[in-house]
Parts: sequence; C-alpha cells; structure tokens
Amino acid sequence: PASVQASSELAGLKVLISAGPTREPLDPVRYITNRSSGKMGYALAEAAINMGADVTLVSGPVQLAAPAQARLIQVETAAQMYAAVLAEADSHAIYIGAAAVADYSPVPAPEKLKKHAGASTLVLHKTQDILAAVAALTPPPFTVGFAAETENLTEYALGKLQDKKLAMIAANWVGKAEGGFDRDQNALQVFWPTGQKALAMTDKSLLAQQLLSLIAEHFYNTMP
Ligand code: CTP
Ligand code: CA
Repeated sequence: PASVQASSELAGLKVLISAGPTREPLDPVRYITNRSSGKMGYALAEAAINMGADVTLVSGPVQLAAPAQARLIQVETAAQMYAAVLAEADSHAIYIGAAAVADYSPVPAPEKLKKHAGASTLVLHKTQDILAAVAALTPPPFTVGFAAETENLTEYALGKLQDKKLAMIAANWVGKAEGGFDRDQNALQVFWPTGQKALAMTDKSLLAQQLLSLIAEHFYNTMP
C-alpha cells in the first residue's frame, strides 16, 4: 500500500511482538477465545521490519500470513504465550504486547464434556500477566502494552501503565461501532509516564508505523 514507507528508525534493533487471541481449551474439542483478529500485531511486525528491525512474532491462532522476514513462534494458550514471550524477552530491545491474552482459563477436561450432566458450572483460573512479567525483568526491554477498553479509557490505561510499570501504553476502544478488534482501522490514545499523544482513526498499517515512530523516539530518549 502507498502508506508503507521504509525507514531506518529501528535499524539493528530486535523487536518482540505478541499478537492475536489466545485459545483456552475446555475439553479436546472446545475452547474459549475472543474477537482479536491479530491485525494490529501483524501490522506492527510488518511496519517494524520496514523500519529496519529484526522481528520476532509470537502469535496466537489467526487467519493472517506473517511477514516473510519475521521469526514466527505460533502458540495457542495464554500459558504457551507466556512461556514463549518470557523465553525471548531478555534478548530483545523492545517488547510490544499486542495480543488479546485470555485473563481466565479453565482446567481442560481430558475427555469431551457430556451434556447429560444437565446444568454446568465453569471454573476459571486467572492467567499470568505476560506484559507485567516482561516489564519486571532486570533490565526490562522497552515494554509497550495495549489497553482494550469499553469505558473510562484514560483512567484505565493510565492505571495499567503504572501498575505494570510500562514504558508506554496504546489504548483503544473495543466493542464499539468502529475500530478496535477485528477491524482494518483503529485509533489509539498513547500514554507514557510524562505525556500522551492521540493517533487518529486510520488503517492499521499506517497506525502501526505511527506508533512505532513514537516508540523509536522514546526508546532512544530513555536509553541510559
Ligand atoms: N496482557 C498480558 N497478559 C495477560 C493479560 C493481558 O500480557 N494475561 C496484556 C495485553 O497483551 C495488553 C495489556 O496486557 O498489552 C492490557 O490488556 P487488557 O486486557 O486491556 O488489560 P488487563 O490488564 O488484562 O485488564 P482488564 O482485562 O481487566 O482490563
Ligand atoms: Ca484482559
């Protein structure tokens, strides 16, 4: 597309990106997932490559082709994504958590659940927070999160930036008429500890470029 520009803003940097939904099995034939398409994470991988980065893409199940130059690690569950990301994080300069990771996961039944039991109760356990774990490494990579919100976007995004000790967070509205999950376009409100910037509704490929430029600028500003 005309919007894609090559640059050297991320030249020589290793960038780790997690993308897509996770899939939490209930039994051998059923799972719990969410509406994430993976488009934003894949657009970030593509844009980072165009800006000179060496990209590792940890991806949940999506209907997208990964950029040919990315190193692709495919996972299914939140636990698998946690293990894959934590195994890679300390060798990367930048981590961008763009995946829609399940917050809760069932203990999968070994055999197909049968309906003759009648009403059923689902027991869910909390998954580990990948983003918070990466940001807690010593030293952490430059860690960028996303925040998917249906209300109180600024308050919740700033809460996540602080609580998870992130370098930056990109917040977006989800479950509304336009943008967000499973769309080609999105708008982002980006926050860092000392400022913020709005990136207006546009194609995810252009938005990815804009977000990565902002990340590159702050990465070089905060390096010791
Ligand atoms: N995230 C993560 N590991 C999890 C859950 C979320 O790494 N187990 C990351 C997402 O990839 C995203 C960020 O945390 O970058 C925020 O995700 P979001 O769902 O908006 O926030 P949560 O912290 O999970 O809180 P809540 O869902 O309650 O809003
Ligand atoms: Ca969540």
